[in-house]
Amino acid sequence: MKPAAWRSAAMAMAAAAALLHLCSSMAEDKIAKLPGQPQVSFQQYSGYITVDKMKRRSLFYYFAEAEADPSSKPLVLWLNGGPGCSSVGVGAFSENGPFRPSGKILVRNEFSWNKEANMLYLETPAGVGFSYSSNDSYYAEVDDKMTARDNLVFARRWLEKFPQYKHRDLYIAGESYAGHYIPQLADLMVQFNKREKIFNLKGIALGNPVLEFATDFNSRAEFLWSHGLISDSTYHIFTSACNYSRYIGEYYRDSLSPTCEKVVNQVTKETSSFVDKYDVTLDVCISSMLSQSLALSPQHVSERIDVCVEDETIDYLNRKDVQKALHAKLRGVSQWTVCSSVLEYNFLNLEIPTISVVGSLVKSGIPVLVYSGDQDSVIPLTGSRTLVQRLAKELGMNTTVPYRVWFEGKQVGGWTQVYGDMLSFATVRGASHEVPFSQPTRALGLLRAFLAGRPLPEAF
Ligand SMILES: *[C@@H]1O[C@H](CO)[C@@H](O)[C@H](O)[C@H]1NC(C)=O
Ligand SMILES: *[C@@H]1O[C@H](CO)[C@@H](O)[C@H](O)[C@H]1NC(C)=O
Ligand SMILES: *[C@@H]1O[C@H](CO)[C@@H](O)[C@H](O)[C@H]1NC(C)=O
Repeated sequence: MKPAAWRSAAMAMAAAAALLHLCSSMAEDKIAKLPGQPQVSFQQYSGYITVDKMKRRSLFYYFAEAEADPSSKPLVLWLNGGPGCSSVGVGAFSENGPFRPSGKILVRNEFSWNKEANMLYLETPAGVGFSYSSNDSYYAEVDDKMTARDNLVFARRWLEKFPQYKHRDLYIAGESYAGHYIPQLADLMVQFNKREKIFNLKGIALGNPVLEFATDFNSRAEFLWSHGLISDSTYHIFTSACNYSRYIGEYYRDSLSPTCEKVVNQVTKETSSFVDKYDVTLDVCISSMLSQSLALSPQHVSERIDVCVEDETIDYLNRKDVQKALHAKLRGVSQWTVCSSVLEYNFLNLEIPTISVVGSLVKSGIPVLVYSGDQDSVIPLTGSRTLVQRLAKELGMNTTVPYRVWFEGKQVGGWTQVYGDMLSFATVRGASHEVPFSQPTRALGLLRAFLAGRPLPEAF
């Protein structure tokens, strides 16, 4: 990666954007009411923001203002991973948004993050969900740089459309492959602010993120072994003959060695496909939202898609009346899907380390929280914890909150450690890869502390 090159490209693009007069207003994106929605007091908006000069690419967003007093609350941009999965379908409608589809109706999520913030969900890059490129060739090889660039243009133009949020405290949060998207976008924002300060970026939160490929992926072996999913002898070959980062590297280069194939087949056989890798205590297929990390476990692709056909979010977002209410349209696809069916993401971008980008953000004064659902075997807590600790050491940051439990209600919500009051790590006890889905109360507690810039509660 050459950060300088993609920074300047993004600058040029954003500067071009500034020249265009965008007359669209937020009023046209206001949602009157979503089908089946209970009465609520907050406003919702959704629609498209065009991100290229030729007006060929448009990114779709859904925005739920805070339940009470939105003008005093921060703006949180939420991004899911994949790469190629939908923040609207996964994030908003299965994790931390105000509603969850249930049959023909929407039910309130009482742990919605819009209790604390104005929540903006973005389907990115083009080709994901309702976001599209009218020129199909765009989909052929999308990568991190292209995604970050479009996300930056989106953020600029969205703020033009919603001018009252322009100087609002801004946070970016998300999970999984958003461990790439978020630091890369935040970095572009920091660069952009040097010319013109428009992003009041106050922090980023990364849940079970891919930050450094080898450390993240190779922590899987120990996690599976210590949770009893693989035997001692399989653990041995999975850490000596072929580790997971090597397997993934070979897999995406179409050069799978017989050794790695054999090792991973053995691992797969022992772990069984009837245990959810994103939460080893869960039964399979709670929801197709779990497919957001398909790319991180490629050998399971066909199983996961098949098992998860009945999903309330898929049904809901494919209803014509729902799409109309959302001002959404399907372009070049016949169905809204959780993860893109048209996008060909460059999966080798998995190997780009973003932990160094996290380091430069911390150095420029942006607080970072890395949190881990502790039942996830795909991006296990141990890898994330190692990476954060290593980064703190590199940056010469001392521990300001020693490793200790944190509380939500009267129970232990997980463990936390803070370095230099800027870089935090936290686990969420009993949580999956999708923390707000599996531990909504604890996730909301985590958000509250993060937005307040406070360490997680030490007592109850
Ligand atoms: C579509 O995009 C490709 C690659 O970006 C470009 O070469 C081609 O000219 C575009 N087609 C149209 C009709 O603009
Ligand atoms: C994983 O395998 C690669 C290639 O064999 C090796 O270079 C690397 O050190 C291994 N990493 C771990 C953590 O075992
Ligand atoms: C970290 O702690 C060491 C040893 O106590 C001290 O010398 C150093 O100045 C501290 N660094 C920071 C950034 O506070």
